[in-house]
Amino acid sequence: MADQTYDIETRCCHYVTDIVNGHPHGAVSVPIYQTATFAHREIGEHPTKDTFTYSRGSNPTRRELEDTLASLEGAGDCVATATGMAAIALVLELFNPGDHVICTCDLYGGAVRIFGEIAPKRNVSFSYVDTGDLDEVRKAIQPGTRALYIETPSNPTMKVTDLKAIKKLAEEFNLLLIVDNTFLTPYFQRPLELGADIVVHSGTKYLAGHNDTCAGFICTHKDRTDLAERIRYLCMSFGPTLAPIDSFLTLRGIKTLALRMERQSENAKVIAEWLKNHKKVKKVYYIGYGAMISFEVDSEQTAKDVLNKIKLIIFAESLGGVESLLTYPMTQTHRELSVEQRNLLGINERFLRLSVGIENVNDLIRDLDEALSD
Ligand SMILES: Cc1ncc(COP(=O)(O)O)c(C=O)c1O
Repeated sequence: MADQTYDIETRCCHYVTDIVNGHPHGAVSVPIYQTATFAHREIGEHPTKDTFTYSRGSNPTRRELEDTLASLEGAGDCVATATGMAAIALVLELFNPGDHVICTCDLYGGAVRIFGEIAPKRNVSFSYVDTGDLDEVRKAIQPGTRALYIETPSNPTMKVTDLKAIKKLAEEFNLLLIVDNTFLTPYFQRPLELGADIVVHSGTKYLAGHNDTCAGFICTHKDRTDLAERIRYLCMSFGPTLAPIDSFLTLRGIKTLALRMERQSENAKVIAEWLKNHKKVKKVYYIGYGAMISFEVDSEQTAKDVLNKIKLIIFAESLGGVESLLTYPMTQTHRELSVEQRNLLGINERFLRLSVGIENVNDLIRDLDEALSD
């Protein structure tokens, strides 16, 4: 059992619940409670942290995962959803017609897609600015602005937002601060400790870590029990909760989060330096830690050659898993953006995004070198 007095590496690999006393039979690995419903012990029983009535509302396997992520993020509460998009969609339910949200300009394309969808239908509007520039954010604030929605580093151009500074602005204008922490995970960045109200995750990525399951999370600040209650209520009502088997896989993934983040980040540092010195690479986007690198090559043909020639690295969407993946944002993750938006951000036909895995770094470089050769 690992409480907050233990360091994050320890909290990744030990459950929050006391295995000996908290789980029947003392199973060291939390069982997959593959059940839709639970027998009631008495009339009028309602779900609490320790009593379960129906798996849409709560389930012991999912609860262990939620408690684990709450512990890692330093959150008051956490709900686990079927995907990262389900988490983001649920957060949008917090807004009312007339509300306005300021977002980081290069968000994950799926977030842009649903923001664009609901804006006309629900009359919630969104502005996109470089949230790394506080003056830009300040200028975008309107009377109806309710929240700041930040990805840092952003996807895919790795723009960094100073969360402490933006929190001050959020406080000044009484805005909700929401941060998508998918790229760095609580191992490298804990936005709630810097004052964010809500953290969302695509758990599909580093947290689950093995490209074998989808998952999402919404974590709330310890002082925002109002938000936590509302989100649990919405989650139970709409039902986008994570299945027991996927909760188990994500929990198992998190056990090695610290090791994987260290190794992936170490590999990425070496690869970013190598790319900077390659004659066909014109620009490298890397923040110095974490394992996401974007880079621009000299021509569209080179970009296509690299995608066709890689043998070890896999040409695929997604990121954060143990296998390295190369993505072509223009036709994959960011195809929803207009050409003008893409050009403004530099997401062009020469732009590639690499999620660095845990392989031997020399093997990865050999693969890139061969793919970049004439
Ligand atoms: C930063 C970020 N947030 C959210 C999502 C959506 O997550 P999911 O694919 O699990 O729905 C993604 C997916 O790529 C992402 O990269």
